[in-house]
Formats: sequence, structure tokens, C-alpha cells
Amino acid sequence: MSNSNSTLILGKENPYPEEKLDWALMAMMVPHSAIRLGMHRLEKGIDGLISDPNLKNCKLMRDWYNNHFYQFVHHHHDIEEKILFPWVDKYTKERSQNTKSIPPAIGAEHKDLTEMLEKFKTDFGKLVEIMESGKDGKAYVTYEQDGKNLLNNEIKPLCTKFVALTSGHLDGEELNVVALIREYFTPEEESKQMTKIIQSLGLGGAKLMLPWIYEGMGIFDPTPEKKFQKMYNSTIPVPLRVFLGCCWTGSYKRNNKGVIDGLGALGK
Ligand SMILES: [Fe+2]
Ligand SMILES: [Fe+2]
Repeated sequence: MSNSNSTLILGKENPYPEEKLDWALMAMMVPHSAIRLGMHRLEKGIDGLISDPNLKNCKLMRDWYNNHFYQFVHHHHDIEEKILFPWVDKYTKERSQNTKSIPPAIGAEHKDLTEMLEKFKTDFGKLVEIMESGKDGKAYVTYEQDGKNLLNNEIKPLCTKFVALTSGHLDGEELNVVALIREYFTPEEESKQMTKIIQSLGLGGAKLMLPWIYEGMGIFDPTPEKKFQKMYNSTIPVPLRVFLGCCWTGSYKRNNKGVIDGLGALGK
């Protein structure tokens, strides 16, 4: 990779070489690239917050997490559990005469990862409460220390575990689920399913996710001309592409990327 994000927490094989990025793997890399990018920023943001956990920064982190990261990642696991994987599993079993199916461990991982997503939510909420307790005249040094303890003893270790588990989970899907899709489905079937999923996002979901995915796809695209990122862009329905160009990308840069990168910069 030729950009400054080359220190991203990558999967074992990420970024994949061009020859591996066929239609089946590409479909999975669309959401996964954004999740990997988001996890990297979550980690950096938490490190930054540890350096300067004032109330304003804690609120920025809580709101970024709740309104952006949580929404995206939770939605991704949800779509896989409710739409994508039941569809893949059903036809894989039928077409393989019951010799192949999605490994059950993947569903169990979704449960663990979702619990961790909820724990972050609770912890960031608690952190803001602790920092707000200073408004009652409590000595700054006391609540600041409580906040730092929560960050260092709960949130940071949770993040380390979450990033490791999620990275392994994404690797596992890219290896196992993609292999089933490649073997038992056609590119047309897959593309129809992806269109259904994009439509299920609604306008709010599309606004949140499409600019983020676009950036992620660029980072994980091994080609100098960003062939795969452009390919992804061309699959976005035209009306959504118009919104993306005119306003969603700017809003993403200000409210999502800008906020979490700003927190991350505190740790440098
Ligand atoms: Fe998943
Ligand atoms: Fe996934």
C-alpha cells in the first residue's frame, strides 16, 4: 500500500493481491475494508483519549462510537446473520448435497462480537458520566483519575481483544464464506443479493456507510489506479452516487473521519 494508512491492523493476507480479488472476495471486502479501517481508528482514538480525557473529548468519542462505529459494525453482523448467511447456507447445502455449510463458529463469533460492541457503548457512556461528575465541584484530579482508570483498565483491554477477535473473524469469513460463494453461486446471484442489501440500508444507512466504504476500498485496493475502488463506486445506484458526491462525503469527513482522527492525533 502506498498511503499513510499502511500501519492498519490488517488481516493475515490483507491487502489481497490483485489476482485474488475476484468477484466473490470483492463482495466481502466492501464492508470489511471499512470495518478494518474503523477498528484502526477506534484503537488510535482510544490511545488519544487516554492522553487527554477531558469531558469534551470523552463526549466526542462516545458520540462517534454510538452514531458511527457501532451502527456500521452492528448492522454488518446483523445483515450477515439475518440475510446473507441464511441465503448462502441454504443454497450451499442444497447445491452440495449437504456436504458443505457455513462453519457454525462464525455465528458464535457474531454473538461474542455483538456483546463487545454493547460493552463499549456502556463504557463510553460511563466515561462521560465520570467526567461530568466534575460539574458537581469534585476535584478534577479525582474524576480524571477515575476516567483514566476506566480507559486503561477496561476500555483499552476491551479494544485490544475486540480488534484481535474481529480481525480473525473477518479473515475467517473471507476464507470460508467466500469459498462457498465462489463454488456454489454465480456472480449474478451474488450481485442481486448485494443490491438487495444496499437497498435495505435506507438513505440514513447509505449516508453513514457508503463514503466510509469508499475510503476503505481505496486503502485495501492493491492497484495503483484504484481499479477495485472504482469498480465498487460503479455498483452504487446512480441517485445514491449523486448524494455521495454532493454531500455525504463532506459530512463523513467532518463528522466521522475528522472527529476520530482528531482524537487519534491527541496520542501523538
Ligand atoms: Fe461477520
Ligand atoms: Fe463480515
